[in-house]
Amino acid sequence: MRDATAGGLTVTESVERLKRIHWSLKRLHFTLVAHIPSIPVYELKMAFSLHAHFCAEHVGEFASRVREMRQPPYGLEVSPDPMLELFFDEVLAAPSTESLLLGLYEHAVPAIVRALEHLMADTNRLFDHPTYRICRLTLLEMQDILQYGNDALRCLVKDTDRFALRDWLSTMDRLLAAAGDLDGKEAKSGESVARQFSATPYRYDPVPRRDERFKDPFNMGVNAEAMLFDGDVSPLPKTIMLYFKRMREIDVPEMMSSILTEVKGKPWEYYRDMTRQLWDEARHAMMGEVGFVSIEVDWTRIPLNFTWSLGLNTLLNAKERHAVLFTIEQGLMPKRTGKEYEWEVGVATADPLTAMIQDYDWADEILHARIGREWIVPEIGTQVEAMAYGDEAWSRILVDWKKWKEDGLTEHRNWWPEVYREACKHWGVEPEPALLAYNTTYESTRADLKEVASG
Ligand SMILES: [Fe+2]
Ligand SMILES: [Fe+2]
Repeated sequence: MRDATAGGLTVTESVERLKRIHWSLKRLHFTLVAHIPSIPVYELKMAFSLHAHFCAEHVGEFASRVREMRQPPYGLEVSPDPMLELFFDEVLAAPSTESLLLGLYEHAVPAIVRALEHLMADTNRLFDHPTYRICRLTLLEMQDILQYGNDALRCLVKDTDRFALRDWLSTMDRLLAAAGDLDGKEAKSGESVARQFSATPYRYDPVPRRDERFKDPFNMGVNAEAMLFDGDVSPLPKTIMLYFKRMREIDVPEMMSSILTEVKGKPWEYYRDMTRQLWDEARHAMMGEVGFVSIEVDWTRIPLNFTWSLGLNTLLNAKERHAVLFTIEQGLMPKRTGKEYEWEVGVATADPLTAMIQDYDWADEILHARIGREWIVPEIGTQVEAMAYGDEAWSRILVDWKKWKEDGLTEHRNWWPEVYREACKHWGVEPEPALLAYNTTYESTRADLKEVASG
């Protein structure tokens, strides 16, 4: 009773704060997604995927709450404050890993956490309970982000980086002060702060970059599917190909980033679903990494190529990219040649971890095929038309196998024998001579085992 009678915010004041948090979460989501290809550190690609997924889920809740408060949905797209807009422009335009991490995890996320805490403390928990509730649930995940961010800053940002960026860091503080803090609760400083990094308009960089652990990124020297679907090969060695295929999926968040960044004007549910899928694909990559660690194989010896995300991001448009993704994922649904078969192989290896990786991968892919049917198929026509469209677009980026070799980008080195030997050591078995000799590349056969057209 004491709390409930103590007053609180008016509907107008509460909506004002909700709108600013909604808009900030949206900007944060976009910034995280946009940097997934170009940020080289693998763990940051994965973390940005998760953090973007958190934001995408909560953006929808805040938009719904605003609509419930006698507010028409419009106005949600507009910046609530020019200085706050500039603040997020600066984070987006941060030109290095260090500045981006500082902008995200030392400025933007703490400001959102503060805004959520203020709103929970200031609004009446009985009268405005739906607002209180979404803030509380959002806060939980924002605090997770903050904790990760603090760890990342400790690992990756040195005092000398901070010193070199001191002018910009003070600009970031002054921008928030000029906006009256992220939620507008404080008095505005009145200062008109000048743009720094965003003085040059931000341009999305679709070219994937990887850190130094990823070697030989054009290597397409070992065809995983040709062995995986070979009935004469026993299940256990196929474990390596399953883990390889999972971890190679780093390229899917890298590619989905470009769709999410370039496609404008869809309902928020589109961005939410696509970001959920993007995070699932990041999880698949990490599941593969976990697999390699479990069998003591040093995955840095395996070339995890980026030719798929590179090709799609630089040679195809967003509609074609999404269609390629759908074609591949819908193509994994048939019982004998897809995800169910991979799970059966996992079960047959008698390794519960491999079975579990494939069990969840299969479940996720069914969701992804549905997301594709919901969002890309209607844009193209029927499901059959969408798959033909994606198939044609995919074949266009696969014709450079020889050229990469001629250009000296890769030797397409056969990494299979050494990795197979390493895994056999862990399993305590002798490598099979016939399998040691495995030497099938992607030169003429693509991942769905279709012929690559020459040209
Ligand atoms: Fe996947
Ligand atoms: Fe998928």
